[in-house]
Amino acid sequence: MHCLVFKVTDYKIRDIKLAKQGRLKIDWAESRMPVLMQLRRKFAKTKPLKGYRIAGCLHVTKETAVLVETFVEAGAEVSWSGCNPLSTQDDVAAALAANGIAVYAWHGLDSKEYYWCIEKTLEFKPQLTLDDGADLIFTVHTKHPKLAKEVIGAAEETTTGVHRLRAMAADGKLLYPVLAVNDQQTKMEMDNVHGTGQSALDGILRATNILFAGSTVVVAGYGHCGRGVAHRAKGLGSDVIITEIDSIAALKARMEGFRVMPMKDAASEGDIFVTTTGCRDVLTTKHFSKMKDGAVLSNAGHFNVEVDVEGLEKMAKSHRVIRPNNREFTLSGGKRIYLLGEGRLVNLAAAEGHPSSVMDMSFANQLLGMIYLKDHAHELSNDVHLLPREIDERIASLKLASMGIEIDKLTSAQKHYISDYAEGT
Ligand code: NAD
Ligand code: ADE
Repeated sequence: MHCLVFKVTDYKIRDIKLAKQGRLKIDWAESRMPVLMQLRRKFAKTKPLKGYRIAGCLHVTKETAVLVETFVEAGAEVSWSGCNPLSTQDDVAAALAANGIAVYAWHGLDSKEYYWCIEKTLEFKPQLTLDDGADLIFTVHTKHPKLAKEVIGAAEETTTGVHRLRAMAADGKLLYPVLAVNDQQTKMEMDNVHGTGQSALDGILRATNILFAGSTVVVAGYGHCGRGVAHRAKGLGSDVIITEIDSIAALKARMEGFRVMPMKDAASEGDIFVTTTGCRDVLTTKHFSKMKDGAVLSNAGHFNVEVDVEGLEKMAKSHRVIRPNNREFTLSGGKRIYLLGEGRLVNLAAAEGHPSSVMDMSFANQLLGMIYLKDHAHELSNDVHLLPREIDERIASLKLASMGIEIDKLTSAQKHYISDYAEGT
């Protein structure tokens, strides 16, 4: 399938020699992303993004590579950085660089390097920006107000990024329109629920090889991600406890068969903890001190603020890396607590992120979102906008077709019935 030839340009990655291995991963991802690949074939002919420069800040994975190369096939110039210090797949970054993509990302970069990479992606003065967590758009707004005037629009991939951008819009600070791609049904109900549900457990398993059956798993947050994680853990035979701050979400969790309690009580019960709240200080020293010997801590929310890693470091007598992405902390008295992926997105730090098949839909939304912005950004206010429902429906239909699934169509009598109020008992 791979036959792209792009011009060689600037990049900064770990090791270009990893390109061959990265290309195999990208080829595999392409074979699991039928919707995006179908759109790629279409837009390779029509080039709807010709003349547009897109800067992206989103996990450099094999799935993201398929998106980036689709943008290029659709005519765009692209410059890319990762959106998390531990999520870049160095071999994939190398494959992109070898293909002439301006990629600035490597696994394990520090905070200064992280923002250096973002700055590099802005050098070619993008007209469109794409974020996962809003760090790129925030950089444009705070450091490059002149560039912000040239940007026509942006897209945001994740819940936490959408929250940040809605807060900026409410403050009157947003300088160009943003599409909340996260809020698409074919994104949030698939990627956040089923993607995180599976890949968070994948990360925990790769870092621990722990047995879920018979374990007590505490999931903080019963939103999209938490619901996915809770159901998958239950499916593996775990006893699942939910902690929440929202009464409706808590009730939903209870009705779906989970125990619900405050974290102060769950702390002493859990064998495995997964935070999925997008909030801070969910697991802190007051919880660590109640935990069982051997408790495993992980986070699947966007930023590394859900588990108080600094507090754990201060509280511990000693610590050591016991397995990749798994740090053992020994507290006074000998109790051991295991922190996975340094409290960063466990599915991306300790595994490969969501499976390609679910990112197929998320990234089809990103692709159609960029094309929508190119055509409609001038009609949109400087606010956070939803994409039209037709885009969701188009992606869902393409995905179903790729799975060989047909659905019923309303008859005209049925259409009339559901839009009519006169017919009753
Ligand atoms: P959501 O809004 O659907 O769910 C969050 C839930 O957490 C809500 O029900 C909320 O009431 C609850 N919550 C908030 N603060 C809490 C606290 N202190 N204690 C307990 N519960 C609390 O959001 P979502 O789409 O599930 O996303 C959650 C986080 O995961 C965000 O940071 C998002 O960006 C991130 N995310 C990660 C991945 C991934 O690949 N790991 C994928 C998608 C989203
Ligand atoms: N977010 C979660 N999983 C991902 C993946 N595989 N690629 C890019 N972003 C992701």
